[in-house]
Amino acid sequence: MYKEICGKYAPTKDNLIYILHEIQDTHPQHYISEEAVQVISDYLKIPSNHIYGVLTFYSMYSTKPRGKNIIRLCESPPCYIKGSDNILRKLKNALNIKVGETTQDGLFTLELAACLGVCGNAPVMMINDDVYGDLTEEKVDEIITKIRGGK
Ligand code: FES
Repeated sequence: MYKEICGKYAPTKDNLIYILHEIQDTHPQHYISEEAVQVISDYLKIPSNHIYGVLTFYSMYSTKPRGKNIIRLCESPPCYIKGSDNILRKLKNALNIKVGETTQDGLFTLELAACLGVCGNAPVMMINDDVYGDLTEEKVDEIITKIRGGK
């Protein structure tokens, strides 16, 4: 699978970011494995420690397996002023995990993010590619319940 993804891009260093994105997006556990790094390293002919440097520089990449649904709660000041700390507490309780952890059923990973660009709807979180704004604790409950129910 990793070789196939690499093959869609010309073997130049400039394509590293695009390859990493696609591999992470298509992996069911949303992460870049050691094996993936090795395949990319061979394909682009760049040392694997250079790839790990990129992976640690950008917070959007993970080298650890993550849940099916990545929750990214905005922690920037406009969201904080509107109560993102309460939302974070609610998420931790509802999921029974800390920031950076994944639920035992593999359904959710909880992460923090800088401004998601929709401050007018603070507090805001993203779950995978979907944006949820004007969050309240009740809304968080509804969203989590809906996803758990597979709706
Ligand atoms: S500060 Fe939270 S979305 Fe901009």
